[in-house]
Amino acid sequence: MAGKFIVFEGGDATGKSTQARLLAERRGARFTFEPGDCSIGPAVRSILLDPANDHLSFRAEALLYAADRAQHVEEVIRPTLESGVDVVADRYVSSSVVYQGIGRGFGAAAIAEISRFATGGLLPDITVLLDVDPSLSDRRLGGDRDRLEQAGDEFHRMVRQGYLDLAEGDDSWLVIDSSGSIAEVAVRIDAGVTEILP
Ligand code: TYD
Repeated sequence: MAGKFIVFEGGDATGKSTQARLLAERRGARFTFEPGDCSIGPAVRSILLDPANDHLSFRAEALLYAADRAQHVEEVIRPTLESGVDVVADRYVSSSVVYQGIGRGFGAAAIAEISRFATGGLLPDITVLLDVDPSLSDRRLGGDRDRLEQAGDEFHRMVRQGYLDLAEGDDSWLVIDSSGSIAEVAVRIDAGVTEILP
């Protein structure tokens, strides 16, 4: 595929969305995000994140993320890459592997398999993991939380460790310390990304 596919991952309130947008601007890439940035996205996203849906089964949750991703790949990510434009995505398959596979306990392999079906096997060229101590992201999140953000400290510690385990020993992952100012973190990201994708 002609364009490069860069994915940002990390826990809630790691500054991921801000940094993904900034990198997309700097590279002239298409910025996109999950869940929600496709034609069925807003409807699926509102089911997933509405705190009123506290009865949503974890299996339904996993499949809704996968459905959103399937549409997103077909409608946005693949056509953009094929047209030669880079894509920077705020979250992708690893979010499901970590949040649903590890956090919800379905296992990484089962969720990776569902995602493989959803994406037709499309994987990122590079994944940027923004890592931050959970006590700092807790302060950044504040009081107004969506359904996933309310999941509790133990869940978020598992999410952080799950990401670090995925990144370990994989050359296509870049682990970035996300503490510091927006500008400081952006410099770290640029240095790392240019090393892997000149
Ligand atoms: P969002 O408001 O986009 O948060 P963030 O800025 O943290 O990306 O909400 C997305 C939420 O959905 C977030 O809590 C992580 C969760 N999520 C999953 O559990 N599985 C997934 O596959 C994806 C894409 C997101």
